[in-house]
Amino acid sequence: MKLIFKRCDEEDFEDFFILRSDDENIYWTGYDKKPNKNNLKNWYLKQLKRDDRLLFIVRSDETDEPVGYLYLDIVGDNHNIIETGHGVNSKYKGKGLGTEIIKFAIDYSKNELTFIDEVDGWILEDNIGSIKNVLKNGYDETDERKKIYVENLNTYKFLKKYVYKIIRIS
Ligand SMILES: CC(C)(COP(=O)(O)OP(=O)(O)OC[C@H]1O[C@@H](n2cnc3c(N)ncnc32)[C@H](O)[C@@H]1OP(=O)(O)O)[C@@H](O)C(=O)NCCC(=O)NCCS
Repeated sequence: MKLIFKRCDEEDFEDFFILRSDDENIYWTGYDKKPNKNNLKNWYLKQLKRDDRLLFIVRSDETDEPVGYLYLDIVGDNHNIIETGHGVNSKYKGKGLGTEIIKFAIDYSKNELTFIDEVDGWILEDNIGSIKNVLKNGYDETDERKKIYVENLNTYKFLKKYVYKIIRIS
């Protein structure tokens, strides 16, 4: 399956909505029900205008359905760090797509965002699939953790930071 990455525009909203309505996506992003379409659309349109967030939709050559999405957030005092958010259509999970999406995040940051030195992932400690995605791409696990409230479970969990340092040879 060949993946096609496209910067999101207004026309990609329906596909983004499908991905964010996926049960596994709802669970791992901390919600307990499908997003309200109008609210999500308002939020989505705002994201498209942001300079510090790049949103991608992922399609494939084998299906008309969207297969995933990716956010690249530019963070840090020096605006030199990317934090990623990604998701895969659960119909296609376990086929290496999540790993490939993270590889794209690294390659894009290296090649297109030359001011970026590091690609980070903050991942829930029990999100094994996502942890595998970053470790397979050569990220290092760190000791940094962040406590967050998870609405759907009405409990606190920890996110752990994983880091990929970009080395550029000039
Ligand atoms: C996390 C996610 C992106 C993974 O996508 P994917 O396409 O299934 O990822 P891959 O197939 O590349 O890799 C997943 C790996 O984790 C493994 N895995 C997934 N869940 C697992 C579990 N509960 N126990 C053990 N292994 C698990 C898979 O078998 C696969 O192993 P492999 O690399 O050895 O083959 C996808 O499940 C998803 O969209 N989840 C909801 C949103 C989310 O959690 N996003 C990440 C936020 S940090």
